[in-house]
Amino acid sequence: MANTYDFGMVGLGVMGRNFLLNAADHGFSVAGLDTDASKAAALESEAGGKPAKGTTLAAEFVGMLKKPRRIMLLVPAGKPVDSVIESLLPLLEPGDLILDGGNSFFEDTDRRLAFLKEKNIGYLGVGVSGGARGARFGPSIMPGGSQEAYEPVRPLLEAVAAKVNGEPCVAFLGSGSAGHYVKMVHNGIEYGIMQLIAEAYDILKNLGGLSNEELHDTFSLWNKGRLRSFLIEITAHIFTVKDDQGAGLLVDKVLDKAKQKGTGKWTSQNAMDFGIPVPTIDAAVTMRGLSALKQERQAIERFFSGNKKIRKIKKAKLVERVEAALYFSFLVTYAQGMHLLAEASEEKGYGLNLETIARIWRGGCIIRADMLELIRQTYTSQPELKNLLLSKALHEGIADAESAMRWVLRRSIRSGVPAMALASTLTYFDALRRGRLPLNLVQAQRDLFGSHTFERTDKKGIFHVEWEK
Ligand code: 6PG
Repeated sequence: MANTYDFGMVGLGVMGRNFLLNAADHGFSVAGLDTDASKAAALESEAGGKPAKGTTLAAEFVGMLKKPRRIMLLVPAGKPVDSVIESLLPLLEPGDLILDGGNSFFEDTDRRLAFLKEKNIGYLGVGVSGGARGARFGPSIMPGGSQEAYEPVRPLLEAVAAKVNGEPCVAFLGSGSAGHYVKMVHNGIEYGIMQLIAEAYDILKNLGGLSNEELHDTFSLWNKGRLRSFLIEITAHIFTVKDDQGAGLLVDKVLDKAKQKGTGKWTSQNAMDFGIPVPTIDAAVTMRGLSALKQERQAIERFFSGNKKIRKIKKAKLVERVEAALYFSFLVTYAQGMHLLAEASEEKGYGLNLETIARIWRGGCIIRADMLELIRQTYTSQPELKNLLLSKALHEGIADAESAMRWVLRRSIRSGVPAMALASTLTYFDALRRGRLPLNLVQAQRDLFGSHTFERTDKKGIFHVEWEK
């Protein structure tokens, strides 16, 4: 069966296997490589007669693929990607193409691109979002690298991607590591939205006294309105899942320590490097860190127990205001992510098109949401927009929800329910719409103790004075 298969995959974990099965459903013949023979066998049995072949031998795998070969990697980010590339290289020929479909750090992608270019091997850094189900039935796919490398795999990627109104949730995004950069920011937004939902849950549960059943009903209802999104939908579902090892619902037994693999942190770190504020994402990363400090939190809770006074609020009013606060916050979180993408595009010369990104995020990915259609429309009519807060299409929705946001935060602060992401979102908004911030004082302090100089509002130039003379 030499050189007959259309597409190859290295890494036959559930994501890799599902991606291949998805491609097989669309008429592509697929081959997979994994060191674990049981996974290679699973690919063939799950394909149910469609042309799919698994193997544990790299040479056999490469030999099965049509030339030029198209090989996707779905292996853990970091060293495993480099080792797979090293092991494939002696078997490949100029003109072959590798697609890295994992959550690789974008600087690694730039390095690998340069390395493989010397060897005449094509390379695409491809963000793939949507988890195992997305991979099987339609993920959102974010490829970057070069248009030339993308074109040959475009039909396959368009076939397997999720569709919204018939449009595939994939597009060539830009040069170099653009695909992985966009996926990183997708994940940063994912962190932000998940944290905002967690804070809404805390407020509804502890200030409104909503039961799990009422939480389910609330999130289900929200999912029929303007908050409709994958993350709201799965949250509603979580409040129905029974504990299989005892009484009650599973969500109440899950330990409150959130793990992280790094993409949210990279987004914050990189945003700081570029000087673009993404405080909702920063708060989400910080809260994951705080969640990990379980023992400290328990000790400090006992230490300051005297000051805790929860003031209950009427359910209906609270639910209505929290919905508005989430609408406001989700939009502002997307705005932060898009702002970072606009800046990264300039700094790194990616050539990103924000309208395209909003379009391919409308389906398949973890942050898919109805409001992305509004965001997309904004970029269609205002393509040069750097900050979504200047969107004409979003202005009314944001302005109307603002007072609910303040109302919810006043109540969470009064009762000591932490809402760092909600509060950071509102502070970001408040700061952006202040033409003058108090940072004139920071400049004065810097100049006083370190002669760091300052600019003036009334004259051009760089100034320094002896403040203590
Ligand atoms: C996706 C997800 C996926 C992964 C996250 C989880 O788009 O399908 O983002 O890539 O589930 O990276 O990240 P943490 O483990 O850091 O929460």
